Amino acid sequence: MSQQSTSQPAQITVPKIFQRKFNRDKITCLTAYDFSMARIVDEAGIDIILVGDSVGMVQLGYDSTLPVGMEEMLMHVRAVRRGVGRALLVADMPYGSFQVSEEEAVRNALRFVKEGGAEAVKLEGGVKRASLVNRLMDAEVPVMGHVGLTPQSLLNFGGFKVQGQTEAAGERILEDALALDAAGVFSIVLEGIPRDLAQRITAAVKAPTIGIGAGPDCDGQVLVLNDLLGLNSGRVPKFVRQYAHLRESAASAISEFIEDVKNSRFPSDQESYHSETPHGNRIQSISNA
Ligand code: KIV
Repeated sequence: MSQQSTSQPAQITVPKIFQRKFNRDKITCLTAYDFSMARIVDEAGIDIILVGDSVGMVQLGYDSTLPVGMEEMLMHVRAVRRGVGRALLVADMPYGSFQVSEEEAVRNALRFVKEGGAEAVKLEGGVKRASLVNRLMDAEVPVMGHVGLTPQSLLNFGGFKVQGQTEAAGERILEDALALDAAGVFSIVLEGIPRDLAQRITAAVKAPTIGIGAGPDCDGQVLVLNDLLGLNSGRVPKFVRQYAHLRESAASAISEFIEDVKNSRFPSDQESYHSETPHGNRIQSISNA
């Protein structure tokens, strides 16, 4: 069996993520959907890269995550796999891939591991998914749970609305988290719930909680990469902190290119290749500086 090379940073594994809660060492998680961004996120030192079904909204232009299919997800998971060396790679199970039957759900989860190179899957839902989590554990597929504002429940929720704001609704989300915890998930995403409820759940479950719009008391935090980088237009939810404004930077770089081409400022002579001189220039490689 090959040993880890000394130059490579130690890989993040499912047991290491689970252990973090006991060490009170916060977990960082970001989404990624393609090779180049995955490499940047991985090299920056993130713990978990989630190929979220949010890809449907931020990369594919759908209005919700509901249209995203298995083949689309697999393509993105494979691309991200090629860019990730250290982080734990989690594939999000899209709407329709785990609701029809447990057999089909296990088959689809195994595809993410075997064909996509994922090291775990994430699925939305609590009490009603506990038995499926058991089946996936039997199939040796680690599972990340997801409760609260689960975007695949959009039709039942009637929109992207904060969940668990009444006592009864909060109790139901706590029960969901407890059921997943008992079934053996290695972490639970808490999305769009009040801070005090997230704190209660975090204290009640063994698995680390990873919050998004759930306040600072979770065991870790996750954001959609495009939100963090300011890549998409439109309203930014209250819980997002934009660490960059790449949409503006990209737009101004592209405008500059357009202006330079129109005014014959690009390409310059230095950015052009030249014919061989009588003294015999060497053949230039296409990437020659
Ligand atoms: O699809 C996604 O990106 C997610 C995260 C927001 C947790 O589910």
